[in-house]
Amino acid sequence: MSKIAILGFGTVGSGTVEVFYKNKNNYQKTTNAELDIKYILDIRDFPDSPYADKFVKDFDVILSDPEVTVIAELIGGNTFAYDCVKRALEAGKSVVTSNKELVATKGAELLKIARDNNVNYFFEASVGGGIPIIRPLQQCLMSDEITSIVGILNGTTNYILTKMLKEGAEFADVLSKAQELGYAERDPEDDVGGGDACRKICILASLIFGEHIYPEDVYTEGVTSITKEDAEYATSWGGAIKLIAAAQRITPAAANTAGPASGECLEISVCPCFVPLESQLSGVDDVFNAILVRGEATGEVVFYGRGAGKYPTASAVVADILNALKPDSRSLAWDEKGGESCVVDYEKQKHRFYLRLCGIGKAEVNGLFGDVKFLRRENAPESEIAFITQEISREELNKKCGNLNVLGKIQIMNVREV
Ligand code: HSE
Repeated sequence: MSKIAILGFGTVGSGTVEVFYKNKNNYQKTTNAELDIKYILDIRDFPDSPYADKFVKDFDVILSDPEVTVIAELIGGNTFAYDCVKRALEAGKSVVTSNKELVATKGAELLKIARDNNVNYFFEASVGGGIPIIRPLQQCLMSDEITSIVGILNGTTNYILTKMLKEGAEFADVLSKAQELGYAERDPEDDVGGGDACRKICILASLIFGEHIYPEDVYTEGVTSITKEDAEYATSWGGAIKLIAAAQRITPAAANTAGPASGECLEISVCPCFVPLESQLSGVDDVFNAILVRGEATGEVVFYGRGAGKYPTASAVVADILNALKPDSRSLAWDEKGGESCVVDYEKQKHRFYLRLCGIGKAEVNGLFGDVKFLRRENAPESEIAFITQEISREELNKKCGNLNVLGKIQIMNVREV
């Protein structure tokens, strides 16, 4: 009999318990083992829950029970959850998690502890909700050199952008709806400020780079300043606005910056982008996520599905539990960063930008930005002007914009990312 413990009975925790019991018989058949959830840890009381007899408040009860071999950490954050995961792995219990914050900040350390104790630390549910992406990257695509990963990795912001820009809904209303639907983080600033997508791209980049990539090294910009006017210009340009998380290997020569002197560099970012219609990412709407992986041999592979929500995420957690129970399963790992970071200064990288300005004429725009492509939208006020720049670094663009009245500034997704 393999006993499982669930830490945290929030949206994903309760979903995991439901999914597990709904399909328990099938799981037992496929694993050829008797399985059960023995404990659910939560500080709250759930007297009316059908699982009321399983609730405990003391993590040591779980830790000291030799019958428990797999723990699902669904608490979130990197304080109490970190302590529980570390102690569980050190005690020889495998851990599975949807906690991207913990994986993105302490992944290298926890993966090493797991390896040293011959147990697993799996985190399929931490990126892309129900979309299988971690295991495919680790296993199916391990034969290839992955050169870039570009995606829509936050369901909440994609839902908000879709409802705002396609249906005219108000930001605050759609955010409340996303919270109601169980898409948003406990602190939704993590979604709308880009932090959640940043943690996810760090996890994917760490996997492909084999070195821990930390969130604080990633250029991150959220979606709070995007307006319907910007969306109208995006449409007239021939695309859509999406929050894009991207990581790509580049050579030091291409890095256009004082990056690491040798070895490979990583260009990594999270920011809203104008995405051209020919990109597969431009039509990804609502809570859906899509992750475009480009490999040297494979070419492009796209992973698509529900990126957030109780049951999609719970199904990924349960799949990890079942994998962790397999006697021969082992988590792959990445190492702690040693020495200089491989991440280049994103603000020095050149991109094209959409700019929407007020109170400036075409001649002055051309004088400042050179040859640009002007855009139109219906019923634009006389004082408004919008255009696409030539390639320019953010640093240089911000300097040029210093004294201008900027109404909108959005990066154009790189052609190489399309
Ligand atoms: N808040 C996250 C999102 C949940 O919206 O994508 C899934 O990680």
